[in-house]
Amino acid sequence: MLKHQMPVTELVRGKKVIGYGAGLSLYQTQAALPLALAYVVDDAPGLAGTTACGVPVYSSERLSTENRAEIFVVIYADSPAVIFKIASSLDRLNLVWGEQYVDCALIHFESMAPRLKRLIEAPPSWQRFHRARIQRFLMSPESRSFIAGTWLYTELLDNCSARVPGDIAECGVYKGGNVLSTVTNVTPPVLAPPDHPLIDRFAGFERRAVRTPPIKKRSLFSAP
Ligand SMILES: C[S@@+](CC[C@H](N)C(=O)[O-])C[C@H]1O[C@@H](n2cnc3c(N)ncnc32)[C@H](O)[C@@H]1O
Repeated sequence: MLKHQMPVTELVRGKKVIGYGAGLSLYQTQAALPLALAYVVDDAPGLAGTTACGVPVYSSERLSTENRAEIFVVIYADSPAVIFKIASSLDRLNLVWGEQYVDCALIHFESMAPRLKRLIEAPPSWQRFHRARIQRFLMSPESRSFIAGTWLYTELLDNCSARVPGDIAECGVYKGGNVLSTVTNVTPPVLAPPDHPLIDRFAGFERRAVRTPPIKKRSLFSAP
C-alpha cells in the first residue's frame, strides 16, 4: 500500500488512467490536481452513459475489457469502507494496490504538500501522512473528514501549536476521528479536555451567527 512516497503523477506515466467513482470526490480531486482520465466507472444507478468531469462514465464491467498492463485506476472516494469495497473489486481483476491503482488520498497529499510547505516553512511529512492514512483505514472511529484532511489536521497541530500561544480547541470534533490520529502523529497528542476542549453541536451548520457560551472544562460537550 505504498509505504514510500511515489507521486501519483509518476505512477500514471504512460498508462491509460481510469477513475473509479463519479461523485464529489472526483470533482474535488480533479479541481486540485487534474489527471488526464480516459473515462470513469461507477455502478450507481443512472450514471453509466453520462459524463463526469468532462469524461464518459461507464459501468465497472468495462474494466475487465482492458489490458491490465496498460491501465492505472484512481479510486475517487474518501470513506475507507468505500475504498476497500472498490479495492477488493480491483483485486479480483488482479490489479495491485500502489502499482496499478491507488485511492485519491495520495493525490490530495500531492496537491496539498506544496501549499502546506509554504505555510509551515518545512516539508510536510510523508511518514505522518502514511500513519494517518493507515490509522484511518484500520483504527479510526467513524470520521467525517477525508483521509488527507486527518493528516492535514495533525500536520498543522504539530507545526503551528508551538508557534501560536494559547490553548487549542477542536470545533466540530464529531466522533473524534481526527483527535485519535494525534495519538501517533502529534507530540504531545491532543487527547482530551481540559487542555484541548473538543466541541460539537451535532446539529449541522446554521446560517445565523450563534453566541457560544464559555467553554465548559473537563468534558466533551455539545454546544447548544
Ligand atoms: C466535517 S465534520 C468534522 C469531522 C470530525 N473532525 C472528524 O474527525 O470526523 C463537521 C462537524 O462540525 C459540527 N458542527 C457544525 N456546526 C457547528 C458549530 N456551529 N459548532 C460546533 N460544531 C459544529 C458538525 O456537527 C460535525 O460533526
